[in-house]
Order: sequence, then C-alpha cells, then structure tokens
Amino acid sequence: MNYRHAYHAGNFADVMKHVALSLVVASLKRKETPFFALDTHAGLGAYDLDSIAAGKTGEYLDGIAKVLARPDPPTALAPYLTVVRDWNPDGGLRWYPGSPEVIRAMMRPQDRLALVELHPEDVVELRRRFAGDRRVGVHHQDGYLAAKGLLPPPERRGLALIDPPFEVKDELDRLRVALRRMRKLWPTGVVMVWYPIKGREPVRKFHQTIRDEGGPKTLAVELLTRPDDDPFRLNGSGLLVINPPWRLDEALAEALAWLTPVFAPVHGSCSLEWLIKEDD
Ligand SMILES: C[S@@+](CC[C@H](N)C(=O)[O-])C[C@H]1O[C@@H](n2cnc3c(N)ncnc32)[C@H](O)[C@@H]1O
Repeated sequence: MNYRHAYHAGNFADVMKHVALSLVVASLKRKETPFFALDTHAGLGAYDLDSIAAGKTGEYLDGIAKVLARPDPPTALAPYLTVVRDWNPDGGLRWYPGSPEVIRAMMRPQDRLALVELHPEDVVELRRRFAGDRRVGVHHQDGYLAAKGLLPPPERRGLALIDPPFEVKDELDRLRVALRRMRKLWPTGVVMVWYPIKGREPVRKFHQTIRDEGGPKTLAVELLTRPDDDPFRLNGSGLLVINPPWRLDEALAEALAWLTPVFAPVHGSCSLEWLIKEDD
C-alpha cells in the first residue's frame, strides 16, 4: 500500500468530491430521521497542509487555495466551505478536512458514521481522531468487503462513499463487483464513487458496464483541468452518484460551472450525464 492521501489533500479532485459529499449530506438532513454514512476508503480524516507531504506536491495550491481566494462562490458550495472555514477559524488555510471530517462536521446526534481504512498506520490515526465520538465506528478492513457486515444499516437511509486510491490495475473491476453487492444489500442508499480521468477509453468502458448492469438512477459528473489525451496524467476527476437526492444534479451543475474556470481557466471542462435516467 503505497498511496498516501497527504500528498493530494485539498487538490481539485478532493474539492469536487467533497463539495458533492457535503451536498448529499445536506440533502439527507432535510429529514429528521437518522442517516448512516459509510466511508469505505477513509484516509486520515484531516490533513495538515503545512506538512512535508502537502508541501512537496503543492497540489492544494491549485485546489482549495484557489477556491478560498475567490470572493464569489455560489450557494452550492456553501455547506462545503462552511466546513473548511470552521477548520481554519483564523481565516487562513492550514487544515484540510477529508471525507470523514466533512461528514462528521455535518452530522447530527442521531446520525452514524462508519469509517473503513486498510492502511495500518492511517487506521491508528483515524481511531485516535474519532475516539470518544460514539456516533463513529472505525474499521481496519478492506473497504470493498466491509459492506457485507455494515449494510443494510438499521437507519435504512444514508450514503456510502467509495474513494479508492486506484493503485491496483483491477480497481475498476473490484469497484463493479462491490457496487453490485452494495446495490443488492442496500438498494435505496446513495452511493458515491470517485474515479480518476486519465485516458477516455477506460472511463467509457466503466460507464458502459454501469449502464449494462442497470439499477437505480445514476449520475456521472466530471471536471477536467486539461484534455483527456494523456493517459499517464490525472486529467480530471469523476464521480458517480447512484440514487442521487432530489435536485442534486442542479446543485452540482452550479458547483461545476463555477469550479471549472477557477481551477483551469483555459483548458478546463465539465460535464454532467445521466448514465441511468430512470430506476430499472
Ligand atoms: C483517496 S484516499 C481516501 C481519501 C478520503 N476518502 C478523503 O476524501 O478524505 C484512499 C485511501 O484508501 C486506503 N485504501 C487503499 N486500499 C484500501 C482498501 N482495499 N480498503 C480500504 N482502504 C483502502 C488508502 O490507504 C487511502 O488512505
């Protein structure tokens, strides 16, 4: 396990993913009834942008730093920016909340969060960070297998975020199998899947397998900072949302239209496509 998210925390892909995540959590909070959230690849929980790792790549400078420098963010970014600003109360940018802390910041006393992380060091840090919060469980396990024991949740409603590092070749195949299992176990859950956009062909194939499997409504949103003609670079960031909450598509369209020129004023592009428009 070589991947360390500390090198990438707060980059454009993180911003897009966490904006979408905060919009989904905000939708779930429209009802008083509790929700359950599962983060299958949780990472460290939060990141110090003054660390050697973050400084080495400086990826956050082209991500969250650019967003915070702009005076005019749209309403769709409000839940996300509230969390980031609460983590940096002096108005600077030192801390970047990862998906576990984005979810925790928005949870209510009645909601629950399960964090799954396979890296032996990261899971120790996660356990330390979330110790004493009775709403949160930390599991040292393979995130793809964790669904078996954790789904369906007694709350019935909620979300799962699947955010793998894509360091193994068969990640998309593993994803497809995991999604099939999740859909069976929890047909009504909102499932969010992050994927990298390098070359177009693997993404096109992945989308086609999702269409072929059928199932509930599925949205694919993408943000590219450069054309996807170099398969060795991270040209963009994609996100599938299965069972998206009502009007999430509109909020994401507003967010992407604003974020894209902030990250990539010349070569940036974004898209929003229904892979499955109606529940099968
Ligand atoms: C992209 S990072 C997660 C970032 C996090 N979701 C966030 O948004 O802040 C991927 C994480 O998955 C972990 N990981 C890799 N393979 C895993 C597996 N099979 N099961 C669970 N975690 C895994 C890595 O150690 C890494 O911390």
